[in-house]
Amino acid sequence: MSIKYLLFVVICLGIARHAYAVDLTLKPGETSNAAIDATIKKIRDNCILAQDYFFLKRLSVAQMNSIAATTGGIWRVTSAQLTTVRNACNGILKTKCNEVKTEFNVDVSTLTISDLQKPLYSGLAMSLFILNSVSPVPLQKAKQAQSWKTHINSNGDTTEFVTWSNELEQLNDCAGAQMDLLFLIDSSGSVGKDNFIKTLEFLNNIVSNLDIGEEETRVAVIRFSHFAIVSFNLGKYSTKTAVTSAINAIYYDGGLTHTDLALDLARTDIFATTTRKSIAAKVLVLVTDGQSRSEAKTVAAAKKLKDMGVTIFTIGVVNPRKSELMASASEPNCTHFIDLKSYDDIDFIVKEIKTETCKAVLNAENGVDHSNNPIPKADTTKEQVVDVTKTIQSNSGTMITVSVQCGEVTVYGAYNNNQPSLASYDYMITATDTNPGKLYIVKPTYPSTFHLTIISRRRIDPRISTCHNPQYNVSFEATDASIKVKYAQNNKEVLCSSDDLKDILEKSKSIQPVNFRISFVLGYELAEIKKCR
Ligand SMILES: *[C@@H]1O[C@H](CO)[C@@H](O)[C@H](O)[C@H]1NC(C)=O
Ligand SMILES: *[C@@H]1O[C@H](CO)[C@@H](O)[C@H](O)[C@H]1NC(C)=O
Repeated sequence: MSIKYLLFVVICLGIARHAYAVDLTLKPGETSNAAIDATIKKIRDNCILAQDYFFLKRLSVAQMNSIAATTGGIWRVTSAQLTTVRNACNGILKTKCNEVKTEFNVDVSTLTISDLQKPLYSGLAMSLFILNSVSPVPLQKAKQAQSWKTHINSNGDTTEFVTWSNELEQLNDCAGAQMDLLFLIDSSGSVGKDNFIKTLEFLNNIVSNLDIGEEETRVAVIRFSHFAIVSFNLGKYSTKTAVTSAINAIYYDGGLTHTDLALDLARTDIFATTTRKSIAAKVLVLVTDGQSRSEAKTVAAAKKLKDMGVTIFTIGVVNPRKSELMASASEPNCTHFIDLKSYDDIDFIVKEIKTETCKAVLNAENGVDHSNNPIPKADTTKEQVVDVTKTIQSNSGTMITVSVQCGEVTVYGAYNNNQPSLASYDYMITATDTNPGKLYIVKPTYPSTFHLTIISRRRIDPRISTCHNPQYNVSFEATDASIKVKYAQNNKEVLCSSDDLKDILEKSKSIQPVNFRISFVLGYELAEIKKCR
């Protein structure tokens, strides 16, 4: 016989385990934007449909807008399409279907149409159908619209497909992103002057979509051929106009392709020290047409940067050495390496880079306060992904503290998902001006990086008179938290360590704790609570 006691953990604390993790990608009938994005992310992260050029996202909207019946889930996969996919799993798509089995534990050859009510299953079935019947996915929206009509939905209206896609892409995903963005541009002989100018236009295209500023996005450029040289460093220019004119003034050199020298210069010069207060993702975009002088040296130089926490995109134009650029890019390499057929295609990649770059990761350091992170002044949300590395979790867990001024911050955390969101997370906490958020993350028994997504948005608190400077602070502290636990029944207080609580949580699997924003309410057995001091 067991009597359950209600306990209140008095400090603002969240402790979670996978048993009550949120995953909308597996929720039947779910069609929210967040679930669609999380589904596509899972598919891309596992390189199931590499380089889909936003086709899956555009398709989700086009299919839902043009087919009312929800059969086949978000992507409206028909029975005939599912049959095609199932058959292909025993033939041409055998390897892919095995990957799906390994990564998601989904046996495609036995999927039924009602299984596709789950967003992930619908997305996987459509991805496999695309691989079987559409691939390769064209880059341009208009061509994607045509592929949609030809191969997926013969009643589709191609003009509407483009309109819906344009609407989708008006959203500025990068508002206020804090990023140190370095372009490495190939100025070697094989590129040619005309293509070099197209590269500069491409850079400007990306820059025009970012918020340039000292504590927002800072841009630097290194150009390279047989030597590498910093055209301008981070923070040299702090307005969009200044950055654009500096880019337009970059010389074309000609000569050999010593990519490794440029990567080394990025490490020893651009990313060697940080001169800013706020969190900033470090992102490097390498644009090159060809093959470097030494593949081994290039890959080794790129690895050193990745080890420092720099996210690397490689863009190969004309005739790149794919192996070299894939190995130099960050993981998953199928989304961080972009193979362009010509410099004319470069425009279509802007959004891809932009969306990814503003979500690039930052490696958090123990005891370092990341203060004054700006929140966009307009009514847009900002997203920042943070990786809490193993080194920080030296104690039994990590305390993450978020305070905010003139805003609202929501933090999603997870171990097994490198970009947790509303649709998929293990831990969640919110903070407002009057209520800072504290999240205690219990260290898992296996070594693992903890991932956080910090979503911030401006919010005027009526109790605070002026709000000129919306911003938030976040800090990470490896600690063995003592947790004050109060018995609801007899008002007795005991101190539990986080390890005690972890133990209790592990043992009380049948009891679902409820996570409130301020207090954490648990129900568990009397015998177990005796373990606490
Ligand atoms: C790309 O990433 C995959 C998965 O991590 C890896 O197995 C593969 O070797 C990588 N490709 C290259 C060319 O480095
Ligand atoms: C963030 O930290 C800075 C300096 O450490 C401090 O001045 C500021 O008040 C803090 N802001 C919030 C919202 O806690």
